[in-house]
Amino acid sequence: MKILLLGKNGQVGWELQRSLAPLGDLVACDFDSPGELKADFAQPESLRALVRAVAPDVIVNAAAHTAVDKAESEPDFARALNATAPGVVAGEAAARGALLVHYSTDYVFDGSGSAPRDEDAATGPLNTYGRTKLEGEDLIRASGCRHLILRTSWVYAARGGNFARTMLKLAAEREALNVIADQIGAPTGAELLADVTAHALRRVQAEPVLGGTYHCVAGGEASWFDYARFVIERARAAGQPVRVAPDAIHPIPTRAYPTPAQRPLNSRLDTRRLREAFGLTLPDWQSGVERLLAEILQR
Ligand SMILES: NC(=O)c1ccc[n+]([C@@H]2O[C@H](COP(=O)([O-])OP(=O)(O)OC[C@H]3O[C@@H](n4cnc5c(N)ncnc54)[C@H](OP(=O)(O)O)[C@@H]3O)[C@@H](O)[C@H]2O)c1
Repeated sequence: MKILLLGKNGQVGWELQRSLAPLGDLVACDFDSPGELKADFAQPESLRALVRAVAPDVIVNAAAHTAVDKAESEPDFARALNATAPGVVAGEAAARGALLVHYSTDYVFDGSGSAPRDEDAATGPLNTYGRTKLEGEDLIRASGCRHLILRTSWVYAARGGNFARTMLKLAAEREALNVIADQIGAPTGAELLADVTAHALRRVQAEPVLGGTYHCVAGGEASWFDYARFVIERARAAGQPVRVAPDAIHPIPTRAYPTPAQRPLNSRLDTRRLREAFGLTLPDWQSGVERLLAEILQR
C-alpha cells in the first residue's frame, strides 16, 4: 500500500509519520518539501501533479489553516487551505480510486444545547475556520472519492506550543488565572488521532463500506477551566514551580474573553459510530493529558 501524507509537520501530521509508517510505503510531504514533493495548499491546483507523481493508494491530509482567530482576517487563504485544496485532492483521489483520509472539526457546529452531537446533526459554523472546514468536507463528499473524514476537537501534541504549556507558564508567573469555563469539549491527543487513523484506514481499505464521516475525540468532557486546573494540579503534585494557588484559578464566561472568532460553547461530539464501526476504545482525555505532562514537565 502506498500512502501519501500531506501536512507532515503539523501536530497530527508528525504523529501520522509514526503511525502510518508500518502500513506500507509512506511518502510524507509539506509545503516546504523539495521539488515535486512540495505540497502547497495555498496553490491548490499544484497538488494534482503531486498526487499523480506519487500515485498513492491512500492519501492522508493533515494540512489545514488552523489559526482560528487569524482566519477571520484572511478568509480567502483559509478557504484555499481548508476547502479548495482538499477538494482538488479529493478529485484526484476519485480519479485514481484512492482513499482520502481527512480531518475536520467540532467547529462545523453552532455549539447550542448541551447534548453530544452525532455525525448526522445539523451543522452551523460560527466562524470562518468552521465554515471553510465544512466546505472542505462537502467538496470531499461531492467528489465521489472513497473517504474517511474524522471530526475532532481541541487537539494537542507534546511537540510545539500547546494549551498545557501555556497554562504551566502562566501558573509559574502569576498569582491568579482566569480560564473559560463555559466551552465544553474533549482535549484530544494528536497521538490518539494518528493511531485511530492507522487502525481505521486499514479497515476501510479492506471493507470500503466503512468509509464516511466519523467523530473522533478522547473520552469524557471538560471545560478549558477543568483542563487548566487538571494540568496545574498535576504539575504542583510533581513538584513543578507553580505560583498560582488552587483557589486562585477562576472560571470565567466566554463573553469575558472576546476573540476575533466566535467559538461554540458545546463542542461535545458523540463518538459511538466510530467506536462501534471499528471496534475501538477512546480513552478518557485525562490519560492523554497525563502522558503529555510526563513528556513536557521538567524532571
Ligand atoms: N488543532 C486543533 O485543535 C484541531 C481541532 C479540530 C480539528 N483539527 C483538524 O485536525 C487537522 C490537523 O490539525 P493540527 O492540529 O495538526 O494542525 P497544525 O498543527 O496547525 O498543522 C497543520 C499543518 O498544515 C500546514 N500548512 C500550513 N500552511 C500550509 C500550506 N500553504 N500548504 C500546506 N500545508 C500547510 C502547517 O504547516 P506550518 O505549521 O508550518 O504552518 C502544518 O504542518 C486539521 O485538519 C485541523 O483542521 C484541529
